[in-house]
Amino acid sequence: MGLLKALSKVRGGYPGGWREYARGYQGNKTPPFQQSSDPKDRRSLIPPTGLREYWYPALPAKDISSKKPAGLRMLGEDLTFFRDKNGDVQALWDYCPHRGVYLSWGDCFWKGYLSCPYHGATFDGDGECVEFITEGPDSKMVGQLKAKKFPTVTLKGLVFVWMGEGEPVPPEEDIPPEFFQEHGQVLTAWRYWDCNWMVALENAYDSHVGFMVHRNSLSGLRGRLGVAPRSPIGSRPRVIGNKTIVPLRVTGTGKEDTRAYYNKTQKQPLQMHYPRINAKWPKYTWRRLWIWATEPMDRKMLKLPLFETNGEWIGQRLPGMVRNDYRDHMYTRWVIPVESGLSRLVYFHSARHKTAFGRFYEAAKFHLFHNFIHHFNFSDQDYDAQRSARYQYPEYLSATDLAVVQLRKLVTEHARGMTKSADMPEVTASEESMVEAYQELEAQSTGTTPTSAG
Ligand code: FES
Repeated sequence: MGLLKALSKVRGGYPGGWREYARGYQGNKTPPFQQSSDPKDRRSLIPPTGLREYWYPALPAKDISSKKPAGLRMLGEDLTFFRDKNGDVQALWDYCPHRGVYLSWGDCFWKGYLSCPYHGATFDGDGECVEFITEGPDSKMVGQLKAKKFPTVTLKGLVFVWMGEGEPVPPEEDIPPEFFQEHGQVLTAWRYWDCNWMVALENAYDSHVGFMVHRNSLSGLRGRLGVAPRSPIGSRPRVIGNKTIVPLRVTGTGKEDTRAYYNKTQKQPLQMHYPRINAKWPKYTWRRLWIWATEPMDRKMLKLPLFETNGEWIGQRLPGMVRNDYRDHMYTRWVIPVESGLSRLVYFHSARHKTAFGRFYEAAKFHLFHNFIHHFNFSDQDYDAQRSARYQYPEYLSATDLAVVQLRKLVTEHARGMTKSADMPEVTASEESMVEAYQELEAQSTGTTPTSAG
């Protein structure tokens, strides 16, 4: 095989024929992020490096020693983390106010103080210059020089940072409730996605991708609904409390409105026929076996109590997290913009065991099973499919893209620090097709008067 491949390369023109630079030097990397420049496109209003007036997770406190600071880029800003005299992790702008070098390349020669690597300005946990080593103990810089401080709070071993310019809001407003519960156990896993933070987020309630992207994922196949065929209507997410999008409309009876799914026969078929190409999708139905084996487990889990009952902490929550209540654990994926074309993702797996054994069992389950099933075998499939989405060109949206549009509205109209643009139409040019498709399909399916999809 290797020889044949080598020969074909020679025939194509050594070393790689036309494939060698098929996409220029970009290769298989994500195309560089560019924002829409159309002022009537909702995407032109979204800050490419994220929403500033929020708390964000930064790094595990255990990774900060008392001897060495750590640098971390978040929302396009460089920060440095070190331990103050009390041992608490503090964050400063990674910029020495003297001549601008990275403070994170310095050292903590004395417990609780961070010294700049260039002239030795030495800062305490509040960013005050307490000594300026190279000018001696009589330096006039002491008390004058101040490094910019970012407020921090450490919860369950994770350091959170207030990235805003304004006064920090209480951390409870932005950080999930499990971090404040005495018995809450929170396990974490980290990833980098080579794409913009909104591209990373937009797929979370784009539920129809399940039928394509996750058709072979084990967790998607755990229940019939996971990767079953969907209707062309899509789910009907709504914004609650100016903070969260919940994915499905909940009817007066408290049951989810399942019109979002293909249910002409009140059953979820595992395969659909596409007459114009006379083909079936998915091509094979061997996945039935896995569903058969795991559906009873799923039904058992549905009997457990919910983590969240008021709904504000389920769904897509500002500034950039997705939360699913699996009842035996709470899943959170929080997207932290690093720069416009790179996102850091942290997964919180929260459980409520009270015994040491229970916590050990949960940690083992997370590292051996959930980390694989939620991340490698699910979210990474999203990443591979979506990362080439380009923001700078027009789109042509369908009814099933309503969740994406709702997320963009949440960010541009409801986020702290954002004000609704008076110039932005209620329905943009690219969304017109979505609204038309939505109204037509809804009228067909219900026989009622079309309602606004916005
Ligand atoms: S640049 Fe930091 S002390 Fe001079």
